[in-house]
Amino acid sequence: MDNEVDWEKRWKEGQTLWDAGKASPALKKLIEDEDTKHLIPSQGIGLVPGCGSGYDVELLATPERHMTGLDYSPTAVEVCRKIHPQAADKNYDFMCADFYNFEIPAGGYDLAYDYTFLCAMPPRLRPDWAARYPQLIKKGGVLIALMFPLEEKEGGPPFSLSRIVVTQF
Ligand SMILES: C[S@@+](CC[C@H](N)C(=O)[O-])C[C@H]1O[C@@H](n2cnc3c(N)ncnc32)[C@H](O)[C@@H]1O
Repeated sequence: MDNEVDWEKRWKEGQTLWDAGKASPALKKLIEDEDTKHLIPSQGIGLVPGCGSGYDVELLATPERHMTGLDYSPTAVEVCRKIHPQAADKNYDFMCADFYNFEIPAGGYDLAYDYTFLCAMPPRLRPDWAARYPQLIKKGGVLIALMFPLEEKEGGPPFSLSRIVVTQF
């Protein structure tokens, strides 16, 4: 992977300003709202690429839905394992690997959740990002991608997104 951003350095130096220290409120709403909760597969296995501190992984895990948080930074995964000592009991875990190059479980994932991961990629990697999800997610599975940031600006990360950017891939 040629990411341009040294994520491990950022984690090592504590430059993690994106980290809210809790699960995303928008994801919480999606899970709890009667109109949307049915969109999330209730069982099987799920993946959160670029999981950061892993709070969204924790929120999505249920006894019937195993979640894996994946992050390229060894320090991020170490942080996750410290913050979430109860992960195995609550049916989730963490893996240190490159989203673009890791072994996909047989049959693929039922669910993937992408938040502040696409926007972390330099825009030239977006076609690779888009090509990777159909490999990862099984037929009939679901990708939930929260779009952030939506304002137009130069450079990043986070690199600007739009509904068009996400739906055209
Ligand atoms: C902006 S942070 C977002 C973290 C988390 N989603 C959150 O909302 O707090 C992006 C994360 O993606 C990870 N990352 C970047 N490129 C990656 C890759 N190719 N594979 C796996 N993780 C990656 C970084 O280490 C970083 O933790």
